[in-house]
Amino acid sequence: MNDQASALRKLVSNEKHEQTKMRVLAVTSGKGGAGKTNFTVNIALALAGYGKRVIILDGDLGLANVDISFGLTAKYTIEHLLAGEKSIEQILLTGPQGIMIIPGGAGVQDLANMERDKIANVLTNLGRLEGLADVLLIDTGAGIGHTVTNFLRGADEIILLTTPEPTALIDAYGVLKTLNKEAIKVPTHVVANRVRTEGEAQATFTRLETAASRFLKESIDSWGWVYDDPFMGRAVMQQVPLGIGYPESSAYRCIQWIASTIVGANNHPPRQVEGIKGFLSKLLRSHS
Ligand SMILES: Nc1ncnc2c1ncn2[C@@H]1O[C@H](COP(=O)(O)OP(=O)(O)OP(=O)(O)O)[C@@H](O)[C@H]1O
Ligand SMILES: [Mg+2]
Repeated sequence: MNDQASALRKLVSNEKHEQTKMRVLAVTSGKGGAGKTNFTVNIALALAGYGKRVIILDGDLGLANVDISFGLTAKYTIEHLLAGEKSIEQILLTGPQGIMIIPGGAGVQDLANMERDKIANVLTNLGRLEGLADVLLIDTGAGIGHTVTNFLRGADEIILLTTPEPTALIDAYGVLKTLNKEAIKVPTHVVANRVRTEGEAQATFTRLETAASRFLKESIDSWGWVYDDPFMGRAVMQQVPLGIGYPESSAYRCIQWIASTIVGANNHPPRQVEGIKGFLSKLLRSHS
């Protein structure tokens, strides 16, 4: 407990890093396969296109997806960081446009449910990221278990991805319900993925918004939509991000539009961004 408290205090009192707060955005969906990993990778590229320095934390417990999407192979993961074997600089991968990737692997669960003896080391390591990037994107992986919930609690904002399919919508609503039940008050922005028309995107958002306000008395907002686009599947097969292989595709255009919203919102933050320190301190609080 003392270790934890003193490491946090040290990190929080580090004035040098205080000026450049990293905005922590968690991408989640409820239902698996909604498009989180591809969205995360491409929104990272689009944000980099706006001059933002981006780090992706691959929070998927299963196969390392983010590195593969960039055609990279992770040598070390968060697991090595937590074991004290490697530093954050040693596990970071660098992708196109200077995008940095933290491979999660099996270590993700440990990070989200940090054990006390590892906390000081992780805080020091992750604290150094603050100076390296403007945005930390977390691809939370599927489901709404403890690990995902902890990441969502720690984030400054949540991007809730859903497709128009009823099953995806029900699971997206399930995420909102869990946030409500666990009193996680993090601004949540919906993105409708794989829509055929703008009308379908609007109908998707309206369904979710109506349920959230009626049953949970919560408000959500829309950050837009991404068209169902055959180029996405092609890019996945070729292991090249859509934004690099097919930058003119309709899906990537949509993602660029969403990035412009994020960047615009960043210029006028709706609330105080808490950055990596806020993220870590909330991870700690969530199971202390
Ligand atoms: N806008 C889109 N248009 C067409 N296909 C898409 C689109 N978005 C995602 N896909 C397809 O959906 C599949 C799943 O996408 P992705 O792996 O990004 O989902 P995920 O939410 O990360 O899945 P998981 O929950 O398993 O981690 C991919 O094979 C991709 O081709
Ligand atoms: Mg994924």
